[in-house]
Amino acid sequence: MPSILIIDDEQGIRTVLKDVLEDEGYDVVLAEDGYQGLSKLQAHPVDLVILDVWLPNMGGIDVLKKLKEDYADIEVIIISGHANIDIAVKAVKMGAFDFLEKPLSLERVITVVRNALALEGLRKENRTLKNSIFMEDQMIGSSTAMKKIRALIQQSADSDARILILGENGTGKELVARAIHMKSKRAFGPFIEVNCAAIPDTLIESELFGHEKGAFTNAYSRRKGKFELAHRGSLFLDEVADLSLNAQAKVLRVIQELIFERIGGEEQISVDVRLIAATNKNIEEQIKKGKFREDLYFRLNVVPIFVPPLRERLEDIEELITYFMKKYKHPKYPQPKKISSDAMTILKSYHWPGNIRELKNFMERINIMTEEQVILPATVNQYLGAIETEAPDTMLHAFSDMKLNQAKDQFEKEFIVHKLKDNSFNISKTAEILGLYPSNLHNKIKKLGIKIERCS
Ligand SMILES: Nc1ncnc2c1ncn2[C@@H]1O[C@H](COP(=O)(O)OP(=O)(O)OP(=O)(O)O)[C@@H](O)[C@H]1O
Ligand SMILES: [Mg+2]
Repeated sequence: MPSILIIDDEQGIRTVLKDVLEDEGYDVVLAEDGYQGLSKLQAHPVDLVILDVWLPNMGGIDVLKKLKEDYADIEVIIISGHANIDIAVKAVKMGAFDFLEKPLSLERVITVVRNALALEGLRKENRTLKNSIFMEDQMIGSSTAMKKIRALIQQSADSDARILILGENGTGKELVARAIHMKSKRAFGPFIEVNCAAIPDTLIESELFGHEKGAFTNAYSRRKGKFELAHRGSLFLDEVADLSLNAQAKVLRVIQELIFERIGGEEQISVDVRLIAATNKNIEEQIKKGKFREDLYFRLNVVPIFVPPLRERLEDIEELITYFMKKYKHPKYPQPKKISSDAMTILKSYHWPGNIRELKNFMERINIMTEEQVILPATVNQYLGAIETEAPDTMLHAFSDMKLNQAKDQFEKEFIVHKLKDNSFNISKTAEILGLYPSNLHNKIKKLGIKIERCS
């Protein structure tokens, strides 16, 4: 239901417009002058303003200027008497949608209002389209975990419940956040993202809540904060666990009522925003360490969505690979490349520390770097590159709970598997490289329980 603010000092005109527009199904808010109009806008966001050009105190043109400055998205229709039609024309040049001449023709009022709202609708659609383009990937995967995530998105999108998305780097948290926005009734509104880890503590408050001109050195002009920009949309607080305690206190204060002041400002700004937060940190551990406020955690975590690492949903790998193969297909070839079954086995046994982002980068690389139409194990091993190149201390760490014999066996096993993979599981070649007789390598493979993956 679109809402309309009418700013006119003549009671008669206000009443007539209110009646007509309410009959048309619009929500109507009234104001007698510019000051009142602007302050009502603060508390009651609208889609359209009908503005008398001739007003006491602050003139219509000044009100229009302010509207265009602070609420660029709202269309304005001007009402003017015949005597000051030139001012109305000037107003249109300044960005007003159109003007209505007194005495008002109610038919024309309705037409102009409809047109203005249609334009606004188009603009919103445009924004939705842009939002969906920013969703750089479809959400791929039919694993039980992905199904559960999709169901959670579906169930929670339309409520305004706050959502906390948890998961390792590159698992798709941002994709989930955007999907929630796109499925919600706010899809027409903005999706605003704040990377809490990337903003220094000294700037975070201004980033979130905005500032007035002159609020601090370098505040040369008024700036809206992310909360304000996200009005009628969703605000995505990414890496939320990286907020300083100081910033957490400020967010906590605002999050419930969604009322705040810009830095250096007096007016109370009230916004309609849905909050979605995400982190790759173990937030409960952060709470124990005193680095994250428990009360903020409870507020943010109304609906938790956990996105598991790729290695725990290996069922999705084939589907993801097919998707990325298509995405990164070279125009030179008619068909996307394929992965041989042995190469697939290697990809499925890899632990994917960078999760889907790593898989995606890997697929892009392989599409550029090789001519093979069916990707072979050796190629996978070559480009999967960093397979077992963990830093020595992390490597030792992996063995730290073992007895020496156990650690030796474990190391031997991993080392042999690594070499086998490197050589496409060719036993005699691997044996040669390891300086063993093939029969000796066979024995070790058996003893250590190594699975041999057949090659094409
Ligand atoms: N299920 C999926 N299907 C297809 N692409 C995906 C999927 N999940 C993630 N991606 C892609 O993988 C990349 C990483 O995803 P995203 O940025 O959402 O992860 P993240 O969890 O926010 O990572 P980080 O913690 O590092 O910010 C993106 O390019 C995204 O489009
Ligand atoms: Mg992210």
